[in-house]
Amino acid sequence: MIEQYWGLSQRAFANTPDPQFVVRTEPFDEGLARLLYDVTELRSGLSLVTGEIGCGKTMLAAALCDRLAGTPHAVDVLPYSRVSPTQLLQFLAQAVGIEKAPRSKPALVAALGARLATAHAEGRRPVLVVDEAQLATPSLLEEIRLLTNFEDRRDKHLHVVLLGQPELRGRIAKAPQIDQRVSLRFHLEPLDALEVATYVEGRLRVAGATRTIFDAAALTALAERSGGVPRLINNIATQALFVGAMRKAAQVNAELVSDVADDRE
Ligand SMILES: Nc1ncnc2c1ncn2[C@@H]1O[C@H](COP(=O)(O)OP(=O)(O)OP(=O)(O)O)[C@@H](O)[C@H]1O
Ligand SMILES: [Mg+2]
Repeated sequence: MIEQYWGLSQRAFANTPDPQFVVRTEPFDEGLARLLYDVTELRSGLSLVTGEIGCGKTMLAAALCDRLAGTPHAVDVLPYSRVSPTQLLQFLAQAVGIEKAPRSKPALVAALGARLATAHAEGRRPVLVVDEAQLATPSLLEEIRLLTNFEDRRDKHLHVVLLGQPELRGRIAKAPQIDQRVSLRFHLEPLDALEVATYVEGRLRVAGATRTIFDAAALTALAERSGGVPRLINNIATQALFVGAMRKAAQVNAELVSDVADDRE
């Protein structure tokens, strides 16, 4: 087994949003801190987080859920936004514990408004995260805007976080009625070379590593070949560990990283 060969107790670079593997790289840490502040303190209704493909948006949502679990800010994530406005409302109804959601849209909206107001009076301030929001239709975006109208004179009853690939920014910019409500805009950047090293070592540590597995030149090569995109780092690092074990290498070096990265091209 590959993990055994490298002295790991589990896979180090799986492409899953498992919060135990979160590495607090600078872009990620800043994104999480700003989201937490927006969602728990500012609460102006809408946050917008964009980022290149594979840079950690879904992971950020998982970390946000993890951090807010057990607080008054229950977070629910709609993982995919190619849904109709009514399906969005039904998802939210279920998330806030409405057992028998009314079928008609106006009744559903009324039930949601009432439930969110009650929750707010009890000190709960739920958060809805819409992932893959670049796929949302204009009518879904409009429904999301309407959700930010659940409020009283002092506070929003629901806070929505939109996560999406870079084109989402352009779409929101073209919709001033939504754009004006965005309180936080954050773009998750790829990692620089130093952060790639932090990332790789951080994940290896969680997976049980007790010694250096990627040498310094390997980390530099990994940063170059992945462009600092975490999903690509995961893919290349996984292959490098596999091939390294096959070759009975003592460490992963730059040549090994280049070989497996070449195979991907
Ligand atoms: N800060 C981090 N710590 C640990 N792992 C991370 C981090 N950021 C990203 N990852 C890893 O990179 C993978 C890809 O990230 P993620 O799926 O969150 O990207 P994404 O921005 O949502 O991509 P897409 O645009 O395709 O939806 C994750 O499955 C996770 O394993
Ligand atoms: Mg994602």
